[in-house]
Amino acid sequence: MSDFHVSVLLQEAIDSLNIEPKKLYIDATLGGGGHTFEILKRGGKVLGIDLDQEALNQVKSQIKGTEFELGKDIILAKGNFKDIKEIGRKNGFVEVSGVLFDLGVSSYQVNKPERGFSFQQDGPLDMRMDKDGAVKAADLINVLNSGELYELFTKLGEEHNARTISKNIISARGVKPIETTAQLADIVAESFGLRGEVKPFMKAKVNTKVFQALRIAVNDELNNLRAVLPSALEILSPRGRLAVISFHSLEDRIVKWKFIDFEDKGLGSIITKHPVIADQVEIDTNRRSSAAKLRVFEKS
Ligand SMILES: C[S@@+](CC[C@H](N)C(=O)[O-])C[C@H]1O[C@@H](n2cnc3c(N)ncnc32)[C@H](O)[C@@H]1O
Repeated sequence: MSDFHVSVLLQEAIDSLNIEPKKLYIDATLGGGGHTFEILKRGGKVLGIDLDQEALNQVKSQIKGTEFELGKDIILAKGNFKDIKEIGRKNGFVEVSGVLFDLGVSSYQVNKPERGFSFQQDGPLDMRMDKDGAVKAADLINVLNSGELYELFTKLGEEHNARTISKNIISARGVKPIETTAQLADIVAESFGLRGEVKPFMKAKVNTKVFQALRIAVNDELNNLRAVLPSALEILSPRGRLAVISFHSLEDRIVKWKFIDFEDKGLGSIITKHPVIADQVEIDTNRRSSAAKLRVFEKS
């Protein structure tokens, strides 16, 4: 277990990929490398992709202390998984036996205030998984008009109080730009009538959806997911498997309906009639796992 990130549904996801020695697998969301190392331990060769150079760096340094060899057992590539075919081709992973997606952000990213994902610790309103990305959360918060903010919070956060929050953002930024996570978290809290010393759990409760919506928008997460699923299926060998762990209903809905569409088109079969979820033991040790859903598809 790495303190960079505690992997979710680790055994379940890797079991579902039916790892065979010397076969090729793509971990499209490398993160702390938890799933990748499990594939390596079972003899598979891995191409690990991440948008975040810090994730790649730390897995690279973890490999040094192991029996696995960089460039032979595992290749690391910085990139967006929506380009999976091209990244695969460049690295000799043209046809693979399995592809894994463990969506969202890692604990490392959330726990670093300077990355701007957290409303619990103050930091710049950033939220880019890829530090070379063009748009930061602050750009959206300070530029979008009230209607656009409303749409963002409703569509990507399913936030019921979006109208008031958007209005309050517009008036606050009229006084001074909103540049930090704490500024935004306070505006959102005030939109729910919470002022002054707000208990952390209350602040979390009212801010979760707004921060989720912004993160999804900054990283174009839903479009990346929609785009990559057909490409990932294309590069699978016959009987190859696609495993996706999602963390909220917007993502899960995309995966569920894409898999149904693939099955309807005769491209393979859904292995998980119902998504696999974490058991109580895992939920007790890692709260993040309580929202996780694993869906698996096998190519025909
Ligand atoms: C939940 S973490 C993965 C954790 C990993 N499975 C583990 O066990 O340590 C998700 C990772 O995916 C990366 N990521 C998210 N969207 C991506 C995308 N479109 N392309 C490449 N990497 C992405 C994030 O930067 C993050 O490091």
